[in-house]
Amino acid sequence: MDKNGEVNAKGIKEEIRRKYNRFAPWYDLAEGIPELLGLRKLRRRLFQKASGRILEVAIGTGKNLRFYPKNRQIIAVDLSPKMLDIARNRANELGIDISFLVMDAENLAFPDRSFDTVVDSLSLCTFPDPLIALKEMARVCHSEGRILLLEHGRSDREWLGCLQDRRADKHAKQLCCHWNREPLELVRQAGLKLISARRTFFGILHAIEAAPS
Ligand SMILES: C[S@@+](CC[C@H](N)C(=O)[O-])C[C@H]1O[C@@H](n2cnc3c(N)ncnc32)[C@H](O)[C@@H]1O
Repeated sequence: MDKNGEVNAKGIKEEIRRKYNRFAPWYDLAEGIPELLGLRKLRRRLFQKASGRILEVAIGTGKNLRFYPKNRQIIAVDLSPKMLDIARNRANELGIDISFLVMDAENLAFPDRSFDTVVDSLSLCTFPDPLIALKEMARVCHSEGRILLLEHGRSDREWLGCLQDRRADKHAKQLCCHWNREPLELVRQAGLKLISARRTFFGILHAIEAAPS
């Protein structure tokens, strides 16, 4: 990436941090309806599979925390300190011991193959470069480990996908969420090995189990 590209990427990340810092107190409220409509169930089903040493990337307010098996060593990162504050309170309430770090998913400060499970939910849509973030997740994951992704993307129902395309730029202005990305395609392009994938909710939500290539 050239100098201008770097400055631009830094600016976008500052914007993401600012927006999520501001939105943090409202995030759980805004997520309430999708959670009731089935997101919570999908989180439980996928993230109870986490094992060993766990890294959660872009943890937000910590909505997956209650679903991890007990007594795991967990490290969680996010760009937004305010989102992390809420996740920290949630972890305290749940009695979970977890380390929280402000860190960029596209530049993880961990050695290669240092986690057994790497988790990401609803954030591939927000990363400025989701391919770099996925490659970072694969790099820090043990070769026999798992990358668990619960993501939303462009619907495979054409009428809905087209609607998402039409409104994508406007939608991205609010919280930098690009809702017409293709999570499965990104996983393939990043060179991850697909173990299983399940698509629900009008073809928008994906529960993906992958491994480093
Ligand atoms: C839509 S929220 C999802 C939060 C949480 N994972 C969930 O499932 O509810 C997106 C999160 O990604 C974080 N984020 C965006 N870009 C990031 C990056 N490059 N590195 C780390 N976190 C990032 C935001 O701060 C925000 O907390």
